[in-house]
Parts: sequence; structure tokens; C-alpha cells
Amino acid sequence: MIQLRNIHKSFGTLEVLKGIDLDIAQGEVVSIVGPSGAGKTTLLQIMGTLDRADSGSVVIKGTDVSRLGQKELARFRNRQIGFVFQFHQLLPEFTALENVMIPGLIGGRSRRETRQKAQELLEFMGLGDRAGHKPSELSGGEKQRVAVARALINEPAVVMADEPSGSLDSANKAELHRLFFDLRDRLGQTFVIVTHDEELARTTDRTIHMKDGRILLADQPRENTQSSCAAPQPGEPSSETLSPLHRHEPSEQ
Ligand SMILES: Nc1ncnc2c1ncn2[C@@H]1O[C@H](COP(=O)(O)OP(=O)(O)OP(=O)(O)O)[C@@H](O)[C@H]1O
Ligand SMILES: [Mg+2]
Repeated sequence: MIQLRNIHKSFGTLEVLKGIDLDIAQGEVVSIVGPSGAGKTTLLQIMGTLDRADSGSVVIKGTDVSRLGQKELARFRNRQIGFVFQFHQLLPEFTALENVMIPGLIGGRSRRETRQKAQELLEFMGLGDRAGHKPSELSGGEKQRVAVARALINEPAVVMADEPSGSLDSANKAELHRLFFDLRDRLGQTFVIVTHDEELARTTDRTIHMKDGRILLADQPRENTQSSCAAPQPGEPSSETLSPLHRHEPSEQ
């Protein structure tokens, strides 16, 4: 689903990425860890098409994004990549529902369809009754879950998160992490998560260790600790009720 080949990136004379090769499969939850300054955010930004590499290639769902022009790239990013940052970055003057809708409207979807989808996503996050609230009226954990809903509105190929739980207390942190695995199990959603949280890193399918602009360990797919075809628990919404969100065929590349 994502292939990075020999990615190099420098800022001035500082060589931040020194030849990164990485493959990420559909439905994988991959964590990227490493000391401050290792190049994790830089790598995520390049993988997420927010920044360009000096050399090397980034292929996402078969598209070599280094070959796209600015406009095409913006459209590709809007459709294929969802972002979650350390601080929610919701727009304060809009409600939770409107914040979730914005990338959908930018992507040219109808208001009606986008609104319905946004409401469903918020309900899936347990925030159905908070949809009309503005960010200032939501807790930190709620805001971060709204940010996840916003990342998902266009059914992206991959969600990229940079320290998504970095600003949360342990209960909200655990809930957010559970949500990631839930979304993977139910929707086949692919996640790439930069984190300093060792517990989260341990539970992901694979951990990429970075240091000084390089990947340290050969990435060993770990025995999946989470079921990837978990049956809904009694009382939980079944994938039937989530059908509009249920779109990734497991075989899709
Ligand atoms: N736009 C920029 N201009 C100049 N230097 C930069 C820029 N962005 C990052 N750097 C430098 O590149 C190096 C890697 O930064 P990066 O943000 O990728 O690290 P990181 O692994 O995400 O660290 P942290 O865990 O602290 O977030 C750092 O030395 C940083 O100062
Ligand atoms: Mg960083």
C-alpha cells in the first residue's frame, strides 16, 4: 500500500533522512519510534505528502506521489491520507460535526452525504451527542477523537498520526489507542503512528525504530496481538450498522 525507496532529506547542511526504505501493507498498524530528532516527523510528513524528499520515491496505492503537481497532490492528499496531530488542530469556530465535514466538502462531496457520514463517524467514536459542540466545549480526549473522525471522512488509504496521544492523560490515551485498533479491525484501516508511547508501540503490528535518519532494526512483522477479524461484542455496533464506513476489501492493495 505504501512503498518508500531510498528517501533522503536534508535541511540545509543537516542530513535528516539518510536513505529510508519502508513498505506498509493494507490494514497494518505500524508505529515509528526513536529519540527526539531522529527524523520521525520528517519521515511522516514526506510519507504524508506534506513535504517532499530530496531524492527517492514515495508510492501510495500505486501512485508515485513525487510525480504529482501541486494541485494533483493536494487532491490526492485530501482523498487518500488522513492526519491526526498531537494537538487536535480543530477549527475553534466550527462544531465537532462541521470540523469532521470540512475535508469531505473540500473533496467535493455533497453536503448531505458528508453530514451523514460525519454523524456516523462521531457516533462510532461515542460522540454522537457531542456533534453540535465546539472544540472549546469538548474534553481533550473528545477533541482528539473528533480529529480521528475528521481524518476518516474521506475514507483515506492511510491515517498518519504524529504523537496522537501525546497530549492526553492515560485513560484518554488508552481509549484513543483502542479506537485505532477498532478501526483497523472493522474497516481495515491502515495506520502509521509516530509515538513516544512504549505501550502503544508494543501493541502495534510492527514497530519501526529510527535513529539519526535511519531505520535501525529490520522490521519484523509481529504476531498480531489484536484480532484482525474480531466479531463485534454484544451491545457494540455491528459492521452492518457501519456499512457506509465499511469499505476496504481485505484484498485491496
Ligand atoms: N523545517 C526544518 N528546518 C530545519 N531543520 C529541521 C526542520 N524540520 C526538522 N528539522 C530538524 O531535523 C531533525 C529531525 O526532526 P524531526 O522533527 O523529524 O524529528 P523527530 O524524530 O520527529 O523528533 P521529536 O521526537 O522531537 O518530534 C531535527 O534535528 C530537526 O531540528
Ligand atoms: Mg516529531
